[in-house]
Amino acid sequence: MIIQPQIQGVVARSCHPFGCQAAVSEQIAKSQTQQSSSDALPKRVLILGASSGFGLASRIALAFGPAKADTIGVSFERGVSDKGIGSAGWYNNIFFHQAAEQDELVSTNIVGDAFSSEIREQVAKAIEQDLGGQVDLVVYSLATGIRPNPETGEFWRSAIRPVGESVEGYSVNFEKNSLDKVSLPPATEQEIDETIKVMGGEDWLSWMQFLTERNLLAKGCETVAYSYIGPEHTHAIYHKGTLGLAKTHLHHTRDDINTLLESIKGNANIAVCKALVTKASVFIPGLTPYLLALYRVMKDKGLHEGCIEQMNRLFYGKWHDAADRDAEGLIRIDDWELRADIQLEVNALLAEMTSENFDNIGDYQGVLGEFLQLNGFAFPSVDYNQDVDIEALKALHP
Ligand code: NAD
Ligand code: NA
Repeated sequence: MIIQPQIQGVVARSCHPFGCQAAVSEQIAKSQTQQSSSDALPKRVLILGASSGFGLASRIALAFGPAKADTIGVSFERGVSDKGIGSAGWYNNIFFHQAAEQDELVSTNIVGDAFSSEIREQVAKAIEQDLGGQVDLVVYSLATGIRPNPETGEFWRSAIRPVGESVEGYSVNFEKNSLDKVSLPPATEQEIDETIKVMGGEDWLSWMQFLTERNLLAKGCETVAYSYIGPEHTHAIYHKGTLGLAKTHLHHTRDDINTLLESIKGNANIAVCKALVTKASVFIPGLTPYLLALYRVMKDKGLHEGCIEQMNRLFYGKWHDAADRDAEGLIRIDDWELRADIQLEVNALLAEMTSENFDNIGDYQGVLGEFLQLNGFAFPSVDYNQDVDIEALKALHP
């Protein structure tokens, strides 16, 4: 079978397994060249949200960089079936695992709903059986629009909305190659509450409580969750909107987790990442014009980073300098994005950008290319005319 990209708006309905393999290999190569003089690198790591974006990059950086960590990765992905080829994250898990095995690293993939108690039990068992009973680091990198309410089984749904007043912005459509005007009404109280339930810190805390109760965290265990703040230009839709309120909740959760981890001298961290094209971020209306301008400017200045560059810089750089935190104690790997010279140029591009010229003014080809690559397409090293053997794929398991 020949697999073509099938894009619907900002959602990819197909993915290319060989391209996913290329994506994982490229990231591995970028971590293998990292160096670290720290003797406090984590050796046993649990990654929640391990199959794509920042979670996958964290896992690759920690396994294939100087930490050489054994990992357990939890994700929610679909495999190949008669209905379709499955999701990119499914193949990322498979090819990560293959590469880790070659390097004699432990790598366990757990595929299922990280919010469920069943998956918590599977993780506990895997930590005992595969990692010798405890972990040194828990990476919390889930991104989702829904979370089941454990008491009722009904779903909380996040809504990406401004708070207080409506916002006009633009959203990209990768299917039509267009930038479309969108008007977002302000969130209702319920939308605010539910977004905080889905993307705030409650589940992170609950995971850390579970792992503490089961004695699965090593002495000095660290945990990190990822956040975004962004510049003034995106505040109405992000930082001061529903997602930003959820992130503020996440930031406060760090204090609760620090209290929880006191007895094992553990530590909770927030790393504020830069804006990047991921499966989750392309859903945020109003963010894309900013991404188009940001990519152009950061590439021009030689400062562009993808998820793997960010995670390498986090785990082999910023992490170890305890003095390198902001006033709130957050780790800022969005430091280059927020540089005054970058933002000045980004704002100048945004002031000119319209639905007609966005592909010229901004780095549309770059953003589209990264979006396609998230799904295994647009890799120069992959021959897309090659036949993909579906039966052979069915035999692969994460
Ligand atoms: P992503 O969509 O690439 O990855 C999300 C991961 O969560 C995937 O591995 C997915 O399988 C997993 N997942 C989702 N629901 C799950 C469930 N119910 N059970 C188990 N696994 C589940 O997203 P991302 O952009 O890497 O986001 C990760 C974190 O980074 C988020 O907190 C996000 O807010 C943050 N962040 C993203 C950006 C950005 O620009 N993309 C910037 C800063 C911070
Ligand atoms: Na992730």
